[in-house]
Amino acid sequence: MEKLERLRPIRCFFFGLCCVLVFVCSLSWNVMKNSPWHPRNIFICDTHPAENIVFPPVEEPDVRLERMLYPKPETLKPPRTDVLTITPWLAPIVWNGTFNSDILNAQFHKRGVRIGITTFAIKKYIRFLKDFLETGEKFFMVGHKVNYYIFTDRAQDIPNVTLSEGRNIHIINVTAYQRWQDVTMRRMQMIRDQTYTRFMNEVDYLVCVDVDMRFYGSVGVEILGDVFGTLHPGFFGASRAQFTYDRNPKSVACIPVDEGDFYYAGGYFGGIIEEVYKLTNYCHTAMMTDKAIGIEALWHDESYLNKYFLYYKPTKVLSPEYVWNNYYGSPRAVQIKRFIGIDKDYKEVRFRR
Ligand SMILES: *[C@@H]1O[C@H](CO)[C@@H](O)[C@H](O)[C@H]1NC(C)=O
Ligand SMILES: *[C@@H]1O[C@H](CO)[C@@H](O)[C@H](O)[C@H]1NC(C)=O
Ligand SMILES: *[C@@H]1O[C@H](CO)[C@@H](O)[C@H](O)[C@H]1NC(C)=O
Repeated sequence: MEKLERLRPIRCFFFGLCCVLVFVCSLSWNVMKNSPWHPRNIFICDTHPAENIVFPPVEEPDVRLERMLYPKPETLKPPRTDVLTITPWLAPIVWNGTFNSDILNAQFHKRGVRIGITTFAIKKYIRFLKDFLETGEKFFMVGHKVNYYIFTDRAQDIPNVTLSEGRNIHIINVTAYQRWQDVTMRRMQMIRDQTYTRFMNEVDYLVCVDVDMRFYGSVGVEILGDVFGTLHPGFFGASRAQFTYDRNPKSVACIPVDEGDFYYAGGYFGGIIEEVYKLTNYCHTAMMTDKAIGIEALWHDESYLNKYFLYYKPTKVLSPEYVWNNYYGSPRAVQIKRFIGIDKDYKEVRFRR
């Protein structure tokens, strides 16, 4: 008896402790109802399973990495101080000396990137194709997978150029428009029309350039980004007022004198396929809108491209190294001319660009 009497406070203590535990458990059961760790959610089938969540397959990462040997980037010593190397919307402007090709090539090779380059060899412009392709093999995206997409009305005259491994020529038959202005403008429509039927399945990036050009220096993966444009060689030092934007307020392409960032070249743009679709679709639609009221922008497709880039900023901007013309001499800022327009007799070739 005496022993039981002595145990009573201990029994009371344990009873009280049990009551507190039950209380705490029921409280936390209710409070945690929505937690994924709540027993209800672990053991009871959720009536609304998260069926849209798809986890990627578990991959063994390559953890034994190679050494990374190259000069350290110097935070306090920018490689170029003579030119603007970044836009106010934080897009890099690609100048010689600002990038390391070895780093870029290694990163892009890991992704096995496929690059398409479109060009238009229409009518007599077919004559420029051989040089374009031969120099392209020497300088354009060397070591990467490349598809040349040649839009032409003269498939039988495509030159026989030997290509390196992983590189192909694809001919896209098109009919030629009579006026050179239409030939140049319709390129937007023709590129757009191939994006989802063709480019989407075959390449990751597109580079859209003129054919009457020749590669003289390396043009590599440093140019690739979501959407890029190129500074026109004639206007990279010019003021807004000097830019040859379309100034006709009736035209969709119109840019007032107090707007604009750069003057972009019509003959060199690109990006991922979705972005090239948006760009070419905008330019073609804008062109057709003007055409309906009998207007044609001052510099044709180039005017619409400049309008597009004013509103949809490029994520990368290429310096004029990438689309030079010897007509503009040799300014000091342009250390290397990678892609140069070929001098030609415009009357003889019948249309510009
Ligand atoms: C281009 O930049 C590299 C540094 O990346 C430099 O070594 C080279 O001299 C430059 N090219 C010219 C023609 O100045
Ligand atoms: C193209 O060149 C290759 C080798 O250089 C040759 O075998 C082939 O017959 C040529 N094709 C044409 C159509 O000339
Ligand atoms: C393009 O035209 C050429 C000759 O005109 C023809 O041989 C070729 O099959 C055509 N290609 C396509 C994809 O239609």
